[in-house]
Amino acid sequence: MKAGDIKNVGVLGAGTMGHGIAQVAAAGGLSVILYDIEGGFLERARARIARSLERLVKHEKMTDAEASQARERIRTTLELEEACREADIVIEAIPEVLELKQKVFAQVDEFSPAHAILASNTSQLSVTTLAAATRRPGQVIGMHWFNPPPLMKLIEIVVAVQTSPETLETVKELSRRLGKTPVVCRDAQGFITTRALTAFLVECYRIYEEGVASAEDIDEAIRLGLNHPMGPLQLSDFVGLDTIAHICDSLVVAYGDRFRPPQTLVNLVRAGRHGAKSGRGFFSHEKK
Ligand SMILES: NC(=O)c1ccc[n+]([C@@H]2O[C@H](COP(=O)([O-])OP(=O)(O)OC[C@H]3O[C@@H](n4cnc5c(N)ncnc54)[C@H](O)[C@@H]3O)[C@@H](O)[C@H]2O)c1
Repeated sequence: MKAGDIKNVGVLGAGTMGHGIAQVAAAGGLSVILYDIEGGFLERARARIARSLERLVKHEKMTDAEASQARERIRTTLELEEACREADIVIEAIPEVLELKQKVFAQVDEFSPAHAILASNTSQLSVTTLAAATRRPGQVIGMHWFNPPPLMKLIEIVVAVQTSPETLETVKELSRRLGKTPVVCRDAQGFITTRALTAFLVECYRIYEEGVASAEDIDEAIRLGLNHPMGPLQLSDFVGLDTIAHICDSLVVAYGDRFRPPQTLVNLVRAGRHGAKSGRGFFSHEKK
């Protein structure tokens, strides 16, 4: 299947990433079915998509007519089978739990047309393991989007051991059609971006832990001196310190001690200070 043959997309999980991916696909002219396990999540996703499209219109990134066409191209469902039945590609963006994704991939394999590609938005789990949960491993691939999908240009394409060259070409081309820039990497723990970012964050935590500088000054130094849009500790608070600690643990298994989470991170997680979502992490996020 060529990328030009892709007309229908099933997006699984309507959370932070799923709703944004659905929006980008619909804005790119594809017909989208967005699936989640609770109606409330789907309603919330619809509202978030509407707000995001409004903002894009306001900033003259698309016209009013284009925004309403994109909205109309998105249907929602609570039935996994319905999300897959007519899909040319299914993009999975459910929680980062390997057993859950394996189970869903096996079901999606059953419900989807034989030609469909099954893509996972996992940030670091083994796409090879997900491919092995299906009877079409050559058509399984990692399609790692970045948050927020409508604004971030990169798609990191992760090639499982089983992924066919044709699947890779189709997903590369599809990414371009949706206005993104694809990069390709092998299915190695942490891919390119998660591995590189985590190494950098861990070193920043060590700088903080050793008392070399305050959290504010570390962030200021990296923003102004290295031209990062956000300081590493603030970024960590937004990603979620529990999520980062979990990623560190997987990277330690793959690459050894250089990814061991510093005690500061471990303690913040133990204290329930997970960052913005819990009101406190490296910084306070409590509403004044
Ligand atoms: N948040 C990020 O910045 C980011 C960036 C890149 C990749 N990812 C990856 O994207 C995936 C989703 O992350 P997220 O941040 O959007 O999570 P999220 O928690 O915001 O959304 C997950 C959604 O999946 C739904 N869900 C739970 N179980 C489900 C099931 N069995 N079937 C269908 N839907 C189910 C939840 O109800 C929720 O709406 C993860 O694999 C994550 O690692 C996240």
